[in-house]
Amino acid sequence: MSESPTLDNLAEVALTCLQEYLDRCARGEGKVIRASAEMDYADTLQLEFWLAKGGMNAEDLAQWLPRYLAGTTHLHHPHYIGHQVAVPLPPTAVADLVNGVTNNGMAIYEMGPPAVAIELAILRWMCAKIGLPQGSGGVLTHGGSLANLTALAAARAACAPESWREGTPRDLVLLAPATSHYSVERSAGLLGLGTDAVRPVAVDDDGRMIPEALLAAGLAEEKAGRRVMAVVANACATATGLHDDLTAIGTLCREHSWWFHVDAAHGASAVLSARYRKFLRGSELADSLIWDAHKMLGVSALCAAVLVREEGRLAAAFQQDAHYLGNPGLGHGVDLFARAVECTKVPLGLKLFLNLAICGEQSLAERLESVYDSTRSFAALLEADARTELLHQPESNILCFRFGGLEVAQRDLRQRLIDDGDFYLTATTFADHDWLRLTVMNPRTEVAHIEALLDRLGELLVTE
Ligand SMILES: Cc1ncc(COP(=O)(O)O)c(C=O)c1O
Repeated sequence: MSESPTLDNLAEVALTCLQEYLDRCARGEGKVIRASAEMDYADTLQLEFWLAKGGMNAEDLAQWLPRYLAGTTHLHHPHYIGHQVAVPLPPTAVADLVNGVTNNGMAIYEMGPPAVAIELAILRWMCAKIGLPQGSGGVLTHGGSLANLTALAAARAACAPESWREGTPRDLVLLAPATSHYSVERSAGLLGLGTDAVRPVAVDDDGRMIPEALLAAGLAEEKAGRRVMAVVANACATATGLHDDLTAIGTLCREHSWWFHVDAAHGASAVLSARYRKFLRGSELADSLIWDAHKMLGVSALCAAVLVREEGRLAAAFQQDAHYLGNPGLGHGVDLFARAVECTKVPLGLKLFLNLAICGEQSLAERLESVYDSTRSFAALLEADARTELLHQPESNILCFRFGGLEVAQRDLRQRLIDDGDFYLTATTFADHDWLRLTVMNPRTEVAHIEALLDRLGELLVTE
């Protein structure tokens, strides 16, 4: 057997390449995305060759990795205003490296006692930040979609505990605005409610759930003999970044004993900011809430939390005995698999813990405030530009606008922008129209970059 290169060999090469990559991105050099039809990464990266031959050594890696990095979508570039994925901070990268070496599948306590202690500490920290009461708890999962599924499984167990063995009863419904993330409807499909059981609650012109409409919808369902398994509120909505009125919705849920689920995958991190935590007011009423640290806390994908008002609700969602995993009743710590879909779990808490321990909570809050503030400046800029039309004033770091008037197909325009590669943004459909959508993830993105974006969009329109 030939000797593989050692970690220090490989890490030295990787670190040199990655630091160069970071420096270039920080200077805003080059394209932000290279995803045009001409790019053939199988060829550029000699995939067939390396798969067949193997034996890549540290020198080969030094040649190969920069080609890989060049093709990546550059989240550290100030022209990255695309998906809600964090521009990761250095400590979280260290956590990823530690996991790559230790590989502690810590859903079973014995497989990673320090990682379990960290996860529980992070969950306590999050519950306290949201203002959940004593007895609350949670689990970290691999992403917000899985977090929604996990939370709604807990809601199902609370409403109809027999579902686990007997299947989901036909009389359960889920009340959610049509602006909720698609994973909510997907969860209903997976949990056996069926997507028809997701009843869209009327929203206002901004796509926010109307509390009076929720009340009417919930009462109508009950009158028709159905049970409200959960109400889902957005904090904030994926498309617009706008928040539902959590206090009004949570209060209604309390009054009618409806499980109140807050999808705060994107918005929860604003609780760290004295100026922006107002958008989370009412989240303390939640029966369950999800919070993605890999969106607004500088954590690499993935690290999502499911928080529940009563910790026992999660284990109740998974009524299974997996006797081959731990040493039930004899071990010394918490086996988190009992609260989660996953059996093997990355030490997700370490990624957020190191960001908090090294950068500090205050600095994470300032980073969030910086992109929320910038988004407000960008909205003012777009509003003053005759070529653009804003969909809404921003509450978070998400902003939708149209460029060039109603007759311009916004998604085509975006595709041209992506093929060109100088900027990366997304698009959404809202109120029957397509909109360009900025998500300001990078504190380096400034007004001058958005001015340059508008100029580029203008050029692309002319050359159409
Ligand atoms: C409100 C909301 N919920 C859930 C999700 C899903 O999160 P993930 O991409 O981590 O699965 C997203 C992702 O954008 C989101 O915006």
